[in-house]
Amino acid sequence: MEDPYDRAYDWGWNNPELRRLVYLCYKTPDFVDNAHRFFASEEFGEAVRMLGSLGKPPRKTTTVLEIGCGNGVASYALARKGYSVIGLDSSNGKLAGIEAARKIQNLDGVQFELVHAAGDKIECDDGSFDIIWMREVLHHIKDLKGFLSEAMRVLKPGGLICCLRDTVIWNENQRQSFLSTHPFNHITQDEGCHYLQEYTEAFASNGFIVEKILTPVDSVINTYPAPFVPDRKFDEQAASSRQGGYDLFSFFYRKPGIPQEQRIPAPEPAESGASSPESALTLRFGNVTWGCHVQVIGMENILIGPGSCIGDNTWFNVCIRDRQIRMKIGRCVLIGRQAVVSTAGFLEIGDYCVLAPRVYVADSDHVFKDINQPVMQQGVTQGRSVVVEENCWLGINSVVSGNLTIGRGSVVAANAVVTKDVPPFSVVMGSPAIIVKMYNPLTKTWEKTPTPESRQQVLSARDRVGIPSRDEYRNLLDHAAVFKQIEPIVAGRNVNI
Ligand SMILES: CC(C)(COP(=O)(O)OP(=O)(O)OC[C@H]1O[C@@H](n2cnc3c(N)ncnc32)[C@H](O)[C@@H]1OP(=O)(O)O)[C@@H](O)C(=O)NCCC(=O)NCCS
Repeated sequence: MEDPYDRAYDWGWNNPELRRLVYLCYKTPDFVDNAHRFFASEEFGEAVRMLGSLGKPPRKTTTVLEIGCGNGVASYALARKGYSVIGLDSSNGKLAGIEAARKIQNLDGVQFELVHAAGDKIECDDGSFDIIWMREVLHHIKDLKGFLSEAMRVLKPGGLICCLRDTVIWNENQRQSFLSTHPFNHITQDEGCHYLQEYTEAFASNGFIVEKILTPVDSVINTYPAPFVPDRKFDEQAASSRQGGYDLFSFFYRKPGIPQEQRIPAPEPAESGASSPESALTLRFGNVTWGCHVQVIGMENILIGPGSCIGDNTWFNVCIRDRQIRMKIGRCVLIGRQAVVSTAGFLEIGDYCVLAPRVYVADSDHVFKDINQPVMQQGVTQGRSVVVEENCWLGINSVVSGNLTIGRGSVVAANAVVTKDVPPFSVVMGSPAIIVKMYNPLTKTWEKTPTPESRQQVLSARDRVGIPSRDEYRNLLDHAAVFKQIEPIVAGRNVNI
């Protein structure tokens, strides 16, 4: 076999000690089985879910360039999910390169393109792709900065690059040990690894904006083939002091900006303040419209979906600023003026929600235990979560506070104070808020539910005919929505027409 990767995996497959590893790498000679297993893998499912949460769910209109597609299992899986995919690889290999990928090019009727390309230049036009996908590829690249400048060039404004499962080392001993103990490197001679800072600097120096960096324990994307165990923390200090081994990280970065023609004029300096915070926000969050005097504390911990609109004088506050995403605002969400959204745990506002002006949503409160101390220095309650599911309407002056979920499709009346869970498709009113109406899928009407019995009756009807799950409801809304973006004028920005 000519191709070094073909030789490496062929040798591994015929070596009883490495056969299992080759199987887990989806590099066996059974191309169909490799593709099906990767498509069904938790790792792939989770990666696509993350792309969706970053505003790039599978759509035929969303173009993906897979760089280093190898035998094409991810190109197949991405195309099968619904993206338009081009797979690119420098190897023509029959077992692990483009020739192998061609074998699954029409598998199950799934179509994707394949291109053989050598060298560091990506032979594609500027601004051609919504997503660049690379799995176990970036760490092979020696000139990270040069390569990422090419990636930046071929991405569309607002496009994402996701680099999954890349090798991170923390000292030179680990480099030596990684290169010398790698089971295939003696054949391929092509392995590589970098310090975490080398990756992040290469992205940053090319103007990429960080969306998410997954540590080795944050997701099944990195833990595979081991299962994901929730609540584990990555110990960077322990990792750095190890003499051998390495760690797998995954990177999600975004090319800033939205196409020029969609951009609304930035407010005058007098409106935006001397340091022009809105321009920082526009840079960080592609395709989101900002009003004037919006303050965001903890930008790195916040995700906002495309098409959303944040009204004048709103305040987003993340009290704990670590590597986690702690506040997630969905796509096409309208946050009215003077809203306060604050978290010291995890807070989510689902797609298509509408927050009227002066809404307060928070999962934390001031601690007031000690009467001898100022409240302000007693800290805030931590570890709670508030989830407002998709398509909820929170009325003017309403307050949502505590550790709770407001079910999808619900309405919170003006001035209500919600402190407990609200079932999906309910109307709640008052302080404390009580459920006054619920949607009955049997009668297809909103019914008054003044008593526990009447509420139970609707819940029983729902048990019988069912209600859409969150995913189903999201899909339903995506299909029903005739808009992809909230009108920028709604944000305020001192615009009069
Ligand atoms: C909740 C709301 C949507 C009305 O919903 P609805 O299902 O049509 O409710 P109804 O008008 O049938 O009212 C039902 C009962 O609740 C009462 N009610 C309505 N809104 C209420 C409120 N905010 N607080 C307390 N009671 C309220 C009504 O007076 C009525 O009482 P009754 O049964 O004794 O006559 C509306 O009252 C509201 O609060 N809208 C929010 C307005 C807003 O924030 N706009 C900003 C635009 S983003």
